[in-house]
Amino acid sequence: MDRVKGKVALVTGGAMGMGQAHSELLAAEGAHVFICDREIEKGEAVAQSIAAANGRAEFIRLDVTSESDWDAAIARIKQKAGRLDVLINNAGILVLKPAHETTTEEWDRVFNVNVRGVYFGTRAAVPLMKESGGGSIINISSIYGMVGAPSAGAYIASKGAVRLLTKSCAVDLAPFNIRVNSIHPGVIDTPMTKNLLHSDEATRSAILGPTLLGRPCQPKEVSQAVLFLASNESSFVHGTELLVDGGYVAN
Ligand SMILES: NC(=O)c1ccc[n+]([C@@H]2O[C@H](COP(=O)([O-])OP(=O)(O)OC[C@H]3O[C@@H](n4cnc5c(N)ncnc54)[C@H](O)[C@@H]3O)[C@@H](O)[C@H]2O)c1
Repeated sequence: MDRVKGKVALVTGGAMGMGQAHSELLAAEGAHVFICDREIEKGEAVAQSIAAANGRAEFIRLDVTSESDWDAAIARIKQKAGRLDVLINNAGILVLKPAHETTTEEWDRVFNVNVRGVYFGTRAAVPLMKESGGGSIINISSIYGMVGAPSAGAYIASKGAVRLLTKSCAVDLAPFNIRVNSIHPGVIDTPMTKNLLHSDEATRSAILGPTLLGRPCQPKEVSQAVLFLASNESSFVHGTELLVDGGYVAN
């Protein structure tokens, strides 16, 4: 299919869950993918399995909260691939607590990964994207960047911040032909949600909430939206928010 043939992509949180699925699909569609994660063994394994399937992928250890890790990762991509076309700010963490019971340490931890990580990634990647003639930045927010839910105060606030950071970057980066969009997944079956989705029926049903399609989404189904935004097929899609939620927010 080669829908992103010749493009160079960086995926944060690519060692498992949705980031792994995005990395695999982008590589299968012809991109050279840099899988960036703090989980070294899992990230290396994803890169190796992509290479075994004749894809192009490399692992770079990166903690999205570290400015020096970002600088090193972008320098390595520039040296190895010479360009950067797609940045997927996917790494994220969840703390399940209402805001009024969240500690300052938990609040800061969530914001450091989910918001500061996106800001650091954008700031580090933009110079190389400009040199490459433009690009596509895809920020992974959530349905919880649009609506509230019980017991996830810091997470919901962080995903709301990602939604509007995306719009401000869309305004500022348009002159450089860098498109910026957010994706808002619903309830996805990944390591992040496995305890909620695969424990008892009451918990599964509570987390699925008003999902009209009545089931959790598989990571690959979100990857199709990522692929669209990464490819030239979305050449006029800019500053938007794409729900992949089985109708959760519509209900
Ligand atoms: N699973 C869901 O239902 C769901 C729904 C909506 C949005 N999201 C969002 O989608 C994204 C991916 O979620 P997932 O369910 O695949 O999560 P996951 O926990 O299954 O995987 C997250 C990945 O991010 C990596 N990561 C975490 N902190 C990092 C850091 N500081 N630096 C580098 N890598 C780091 C982890 O090592 C892991 O590989 C997250 O931003 C999440 O908030 C998830």
